[in-house]
Amino acid sequence: MGLLQLNFDGLRNLQTVDMAPSSRINVINGVNGSGKTSLLEGIHILGMGRSFRTRQLKNVIQTEAPYVTLYGRLAGEPQVDLGVRRLRSSSELELRVKGDKKARLADLVETMPLQLINPDAFRLLEGSPSGRREFLDWGVFHVKHNFLAIWKRTRRALKHRNALLRHGRIEPQELAVWEQELATWGEQMDVLRRAWFAEFLPVFEDTLDQLLPLPGLTLRYARGWDKKRDLAEVLHASRATDQQMGFTQQGPQRADLRIKLNKQPAIEVLSRGQQKLVVSALKLAQGRLLESASQRHCIYLIDDLPAELDEQHRLRFCQLLEDMQCQVFITSVEPKALMQTWQAQTPVSMFHVKHTDRGLSQLTPDG
Ligand SMILES: Nc1ncnc2c1ncn2[C@@H]1O[C@H](COP(=O)(O)OP(=O)(O)O)[C@@H](O)[C@H]1O
Ligand SMILES: [Mg+2]
Repeated sequence: MGLLQLNFDGLRNLQTVDMAPSSRINVINGVNGSGKTSLLEGIHILGMGRSFRTRQLKNVIQTEAPYVTLYGRLAGEPQVDLGVRRLRSSSELELRVKGDKKARLADLVETMPLQLINPDAFRLLEGSPSGRREFLDWGVFHVKHNFLAIWKRTRRALKHRNALLRHGRIEPQELAVWEQELATWGEQMDVLRRAWFAEFLPVFEDTLDQLLPLPGLTLRYARGWDKKRDLAEVLHASRATDQQMGFTQQGPQRADLRIKLNKQPAIEVLSRGQQKLVVSALKLAQGRLLESASQRHCIYLIDDLPAELDEQHRLRFCQLLEDMQCQVFITSVEPKALMQTWQAQTPVSMFHVKHTDRGLSQLTPDG
């Protein structure tokens, strides 16, 4: 798996992109502001239907362009064509997966698993649980196939329960119906998340060991409600306080990954650099588990690694990436920083993003 071809039109400051990436490592060089992050952003939108830089996709449309079109072809038997288009005049996102005009976001996401490692991603440990929950569910979604349906049912039940809690006069019967629904699907979500976590943990520990051994570091999955009671019981018992708060306080929507060093929250004891390596190990372990559990590969988008990791750890990080069979797009402002990193047999392509006299930037193969 991997992208064979990319064609972007009307994306930020990039002139029409026509790129044939290598199946493995793609290094994108260019000065600040040339458009390196924009290229990764384009691939991210193609695989996730959303940007990592803005909530408003209209911001990625090139100034004065009527739309942005992103097209990619994935290797495989058969090859898979993916397309995303956003018009300036409409808030709708048009998706195409294998020619299907009715493709949904989940089809896109399932077809092209992506992992992003950028300066924001390095804040995974310090940020709110929602980022870690998203990380957890990415893994469960790609490895456990019935997760999406269960996740949707859970979310629907939670929405209804919360709406009822905020309502002045509660119909106990109606509340009980949604509570039952939430308890049933929430428990199932926990089963899948727990099963995924049991597979993930040893892969993470092995990855971290190779990057930066940190004895005493523990990673734990917290399901979001009392360990000893089932969800139905918890929901029932917390009705009164949930009603006061106006939302459901415990449940799968509060799941988290807890990272500690010698029983203290990792965020309070690890250095900034150590935190980045723990996050790197988490992100690499996702791809490694996907490969071993489903023989699928994810595409790594890595923004400005030389600015984030020191040379020694950057090398180890890149070796782990090379050990996987995944495709990588990695940007750098220093052309030399990522040149000697790779082994001779690994296919590496270098690209350059350069300003042109029309005010836009052009991507060209380098060397
Ligand atoms: N919608 C847009 N249309 C045209 N140019 C844009 C748009 N959005 C951002 N830019 C410009 O695109 C350039 C590329 O930024 P970026 O991809 O972050 O560069 P790099 O990662 O190489 O530093 C910036 O100079 C920015 O001002
Ligand atoms: Mg950038």
